[in-house]
Amino acid sequence: MEEHLTVGRVAELAGVSVRTLHHYDEIGLVRPSARTAAGYRAYSAGDVERLREVLAYRRLGFGLREIADLVDDPTTDAVAHLHRLRGLLLEQRDRAAAMVTALDRELEARAMGIGTTPEEQLKMFGAQLYEAIGSAYPATRRTEPRIAARVWDALGDAQTVLNVGAGTGSYEPPDRDVTAVEPSAVMRAQRPAGAAPCVAAGAESLPFEDRSFDAAMAFSTIHHWHDPIAGLREMRRVARRVVVFTHDSSDAAWRHRFWLSRDYLPEVADLVAGRPSVDRLADAIGARVEPVPIPWDCADGFFEAYWRRPEAYLEEHVRRAVSVWTRVGPAAEQRAVARLRDDLSSGRWAKRNHDLTNLDAAELGLRLLVT
Ligand SMILES: C[S@@+](CC[C@H](N)C(=O)[O-])C[C@H]1O[C@@H](n2cnc3c(N)ncnc32)[C@H](O)[C@@H]1O
Repeated sequence: MEEHLTVGRVAELAGVSVRTLHHYDEIGLVRPSARTAAGYRAYSAGDVERLREVLAYRRLGFGLREIADLVDDPTTDAVAHLHRLRGLLLEQRDRAAAMVTALDRELEARAMGIGTTPEEQLKMFGAQLYEAIGSAYPATRRTEPRIAARVWDALGDAQTVLNVGAGTGSYEPPDRDVTAVEPSAVMRAQRPAGAAPCVAAGAESLPFEDRSFDAAMAFSTIHHWHDPIAGLREMRRVARRVVVFTHDSSDAAWRHRFWLSRDYLPEVADLVAGRPSVDRLADAIGARVEPVPIPWDCADGFFEAYWRRPEAYLEEHVRRAVSVWTRVGPAAEQRAVARLRDDLSSGRWAKRNHDLTNLDAAELGLRLLVT
């Protein structure tokens, strides 16, 4: 017979009261599937799995009625729940890290006798991932001239250009009239002296009139937007032409295309799950899609940049400048780095990837969307 746990044992293991479990039973949220001979509630492995999901959603702040809808959804299995919970927890962790950074900054300001405005105090609640990790960005993130040439070429004869999610401005064309948009104060503060003027805003709601610019560009940013399609439509609204550099994470082969995510960091697939495909993004703004091969000595240290220089990923400063490593969490990061270090010293990496050593550029799913 299947093993069951008593209500007292389940309560003890889960860190909730027996009363809570009785309540979940009464409202039909988690019904133990058996009773002991003495008539006590007894929980099967399946009951415990459901309880774990309920408690995880509860700790994320969902109401009991919402949780009932989530766990009873027939289209969502246990694995899908785990993926969803993981994504929600990562978001929560990023938000908490951003708030700690903002609070530290306010404490520092107060210690120096500087007051914060109500606007600054409220900003921490909207603080984004880049408020937490942005200061590590400039160490390796800079213009890659061959990719910049592709972007600037795609801008055509545009004289006025809006750069959305501009960060430190690596890909802003030097010979046009650029206006930047960047929601993170940390990133805005790192823009070099003399860089184009920068407006604090998100892509999803651009503070400009229709057709204010000849072109709008977005480089390596739309995977961070809450609603990429809304952001792209906003770009289309304010500009005659749109140029976007992003990666295509939609097809099933994607995870296997790059050895780093295939052999060391499969968690990357969870980060992109549910994001719209490149084709859907392109359709939303009527763009064509062009592949962008990554040169072997790519100067901009984004995730795929070191595909032929694997030792680079062992460097902490290289990883800190790429959000993926923060988003997968320290356990996955440490495991991936330790495994890569072992494989590099044993020669296993070289053996498995010998076909890369003669390539000057690799097709790793990076794409230019051009309207
Ligand atoms: C990987 S960085 C790229 C920065 C810059 N485009 C570059 O290539 O160097 C991603 C940027 O997107 C910004 N970002 C995040 N959410 C955004 C949103 N909703 N709208 C616009 N930018 C956003 C981040 O603050 C960060 O500066």
